[in-house]
Amino acid sequence: MPDVTEIFETLEYGPAPESPSRVTKWLEAHDSRFGLYVGGEWREPRGGEHFAAANPATGRDIARIAQANAADVDAAVAAARDAFAHWSARSGHERARYLYAIARGIQKHARFFSVLESLDNGKPIRESRDIDIPLVARHFYHHGGWAQLAGTELGGQVPVGVVGQIIPWNFPLLMLAWKIAPAIAMGNTVVLKPAEYTSLTALRFAELCDEIGLPAGVVNIVTGDGRTGALLVEHEDVDKIAFTGSTEVGRKIREATAGSGKKLSLELGGKSPFVVYEDADLDSVVEGVVDAIWFNQGQVCCAGSRILVQEGVADRLVEKLKARMETLRIGDPLDKAVDIGAIVAPVQLERIRSLVEEGEKEGATPWQPSWSCPEEGWFYPPTLLTDVEPASTVARVEIFGPVVALMTFRTPDESVELANDTRYGLAASLWTENINLALDIAPRVQAGTVWINCTNMFDAASGFGGYRESGYGREGGLEGLWEYVKPAWTAGAPALSDEPAAASGDEDPAGDGAGGDNGGPPPIDRTAKMYVGGKQARPDATYSLHVAGADGRRIGEVGRGNRKDLRNAVEAAHGAAGKWANATAHNRAQVLFYLAENLSARADEFADRIQAMAGVTASEAADEVERSIRRLFAYAAWADKWDGRVHHTPFRNVTLAMPEPLGVMGVVCPTAPSLLGFVSTVIPPVCMGNAVVAVPSQAWPLAATDFYQVLDTSDVPGGVINIVTGLRDELAPVLAAHDDVAGMWYFGPADGGAEVERLSTGNMKRTWTNDGKARDWTDDAQGEGEEFLREATHVKNIWVPYGA
Ligand code: NAI
Repeated sequence: MPDVTEIFETLEYGPAPESPSRVTKWLEAHDSRFGLYVGGEWREPRGGEHFAAANPATGRDIARIAQANAADVDAAVAAARDAFAHWSARSGHERARYLYAIARGIQKHARFFSVLESLDNGKPIRESRDIDIPLVARHFYHHGGWAQLAGTELGGQVPVGVVGQIIPWNFPLLMLAWKIAPAIAMGNTVVLKPAEYTSLTALRFAELCDEIGLPAGVVNIVTGDGRTGALLVEHEDVDKIAFTGSTEVGRKIREATAGSGKKLSLELGGKSPFVVYEDADLDSVVEGVVDAIWFNQGQVCCAGSRILVQEGVADRLVEKLKARMETLRIGDPLDKAVDIGAIVAPVQLERIRSLVEEGEKEGATPWQPSWSCPEEGWFYPPTLLTDVEPASTVARVEIFGPVVALMTFRTPDESVELANDTRYGLAASLWTENINLALDIAPRVQAGTVWINCTNMFDAASGFGGYRESGYGREGGLEGLWEYVKPAWTAGAPALSDEPAAASGDEDPAGDGAGGDNGGPPPIDRTAKMYVGGKQARPDATYSLHVAGADGRRIGEVGRGNRKDLRNAVEAAHGAAGKWANATAHNRAQVLFYLAENLSARADEFADRIQAMAGVTASEAADEVERSIRRLFAYAAWADKWDGRVHHTPFRNVTLAMPEPLGVMGVVCPTAPSLLGFVSTVIPPVCMGNAVVAVPSQAWPLAATDFYQVLDTSDVPGGVINIVTGLRDELAPVLAAHDDVAGMWYFGPADGGAEVERLSTGNMKRTWTNDGKARDWTDDAQGEGEEFLREATHVKNIWVPYGA
């Protein structure tokens, strides 16, 4: 007679299939063939083209999906534009009721959506039923709430307009919810393109929109492959693009939208570290790894695909992992007792296979459980790679499958280095029983989400999004709403015109004394130096620019900065950035107050300079100085008040949403007003803990070069503010293309801004331009405040166990 333990260990699983019959009936009712959902109606694709959608668990086709062409995308955008007028005019409360109705509808049809999702995508029903679909409903509830509150919580903001949204295939309906819920809550209308492998739940969602009476055109669904996505991206009447998918396509989208004025949010790839310290509870860690890399077959942008384990416990962890992998069950996604389903498409399966092969060639040792995968369908077994070098392909490239690479480290410092040794920065998960260690490491990891003793947790109340090449913008939480609104004043802002002419260059070496236009002997040296690393710096090439006064006469010279000067400045900024970011907010506030004080002490001198350059009256010049002092005070005030939030995510956690500096930022200042423009654009990033390389007004740079004397006397650490004078069109592209610059602001004409956006794709740096529009820098609503602080920071969400 076997004892109880033996019985448990030898028990066989019986099949526990979820019935697909309702979904099958629905497919039959549609003749397994679908059109496009445009303006509240179903229509055939204009090009008459359809493609097949398959069930990854069988490889058999289950539906024909329409390929939308340019005419279809035009029609969908036009329908969204028509709907925008009345949808954006509705009260927040009215919109909230529609979102609430959608959430209820999702819940009522939860089982149907789960089965359809699993059939179309191959994910286990356990996941679609318990994670994807409940989170979809939660997202619409949560954002219904934000629609209700938008009037009070997001004052002075208006909807962006028509939003084009492109989503991937790994969480089809969930990604739809992440995109559509905040967009329509804020009063935008939407054209959404699902991924070509997984369109079905989006099409059923369109039916739900009809069922709950959502006004026609608020949500439009156009299906198709990347060509349809590209048409949406390029469409002139789209005001914003929100994209989730590969970094490669994200890059193309940034290039395609450069200079178009379209707002852009990108949620891209990842290679997230899963860090195990030697005091971690290894049994919890093992379950964590299951959730990190075998959830959704590892087809998760924030999958913990790099296990970094402290040396002392590495062998024990590997042993435990192998034992657990042996017990994982792979098979029919509709079987409720299955852990791992099918890979979405043959091309993805092939990609996984070839990357693992490449890993082996580079020296990695793969380990897979002894059981085999189903013969039918597209399956790949859970795979553990050991003997992995940090520089190898499998440690760097997003595999997007159930494959995890394990590496070891010795000290916590080394764990941070390894964790950050990636071009991505989407998520990280930290495992230790030592809260001091966890909370010491969390701020040091470059990632948009940090999970402490948990992983792959998502909630509508918490923002999600990347650092570095994982993209920018957040989805979820208050952070995510900013992607779907814009300041009301921008609607009527005129184009930037009548800028003062740039300082003029010549081929004379600087300081040759060739001036003398004023008559009399030339001053000894009138060339203002640059300011790099807290010191005055001579330009690399000794070419200078003549700064003309209002009367056309030469009033000074500045160096004509070049690539080398910028490189030095970026290096100096890097040297200062870490320490400045870690300075206390109080400390930064003190420095900014002191700057204001010292500027105030020299107010007359600055006013004279402004008057000479801009030809304004004495009182106008004094007014500009006074406003600059006020603005310094404002950011000194903000420095210790731009707090994060604590999100009440509905698990045994709280989520700390912490605004963090981007790092080194390039700032191309407005041409005019010279001092106020410089202060308004350089100080907010500095206030938030960034180090800045500033290109001051190219017409009137002397206010900025005078300013470094104020910096010198105000305890601003060397390297926090660097000033490189010269011609905007020569300098901005170099900064935009520089891979060690994390963010870039540009306040010049439209074509310059377009160039900055185009060149930003090397490291996917975040850019902020004025789209060629004029900003009234004297108006506090336009020239100061939270918008600037938001653009100088990104939010890291740290999930901390709480009340567990
Ligand atoms: P993808 O980035 O090509 O596809 C995502 C979406 O973008 C789909 O809807 C697709 O139709 C659309 N798209 C493709 N080309 C486009 C273009 N030029 N303009 C506009 N839209 C376009 O991802 P794919 O090819 O399905 O997967 C390839 C790899 O990308 C995966 O192996 C994985 O590494 C990564 N990936 C990452 C995701 C994430 O959530 N971060 C999601 C999907 C894929």
